[in-house]
Amino acid sequence: MLPIKNMWKKTAFFFLCLLLINTATKASAKNMERTSPLWTHTQRLFVAYGDAAFAAQNMALAAESLGLGICYIGSILNDVYKTADILQLPEYTYPLFGMAVGYPNHSPEQKPRLPQDVIFHRNHYDREQLKPSLDEYDKIIGQYYESRTGGTKEDETWTKQIARGLSGPLRKALKPYLEEQHLGLR
Ligand SMILES: Cc1cc2nc3c(=O)[nH]c(=O)nc-3n(C[C@H](O)[C@H](O)[C@H](O)COP(=O)(O)O)c2cc1C
Repeated sequence: MLPIKNMWKKTAFFFLCLLLINTATKASAKNMERTSPLWTHTQRLFVAYGDAAFAAQNMALAAESLGLGICYIGSILNDVYKTADILQLPEYTYPLFGMAVGYPNHSPEQKPRLPQDVIFHRNHYDREQLKPSLDEYDKIIGQYYESRTGGTKEDETWTKQIARGLSGPLRKALKPYLEEQHLGLR
């Protein structure tokens, strides 16, 4: 995946949205009065989120196999109401993320990945290994940031970045919007 700024201008942009129930479904569902509350259930939300994420991943793989690059864009949720307004989303629908697809103008080296033992656990979740592995990864990613920015991004690590991200204000409109869409209520 590529950061968006590395794309050519000629970029297509897709919006991936959950659409739990649409007009066609409503029209064909004979017993809608009785079954509609099921769509408000949290379990439905999780299944739909999984489906949309799998579809997005398949789109990404297909695009990359054709020599295109992609970048997921979560910032369409910075103002979820505006995004929903622009897309004229009906009820029971939730925007998840965008996906920019375009021809990369260069091929940067791959960003170092988190160590396997941080993301892949056998039989049980292994807490013991986390700290040493993340310490090691912080060193590697620190060097990567330094080399990519010509030394201007000094002393940056993955754990610092994540901690900063978690300390900032979150997108507070997501929950009320979700509820207004009758999703994940039960
Ligand atoms: C759900 C999701 C939302 C994302 N939103 C953004 C975004 O808004 N802007 C951005 O530059 N990168 C965003 N990213 C990150 C990029 O898509 C990509 O993962 C990142 O550039 C790292 O690329 P790499 O995996 O090739 O290292 C998002 C990733 C995910 C999975």
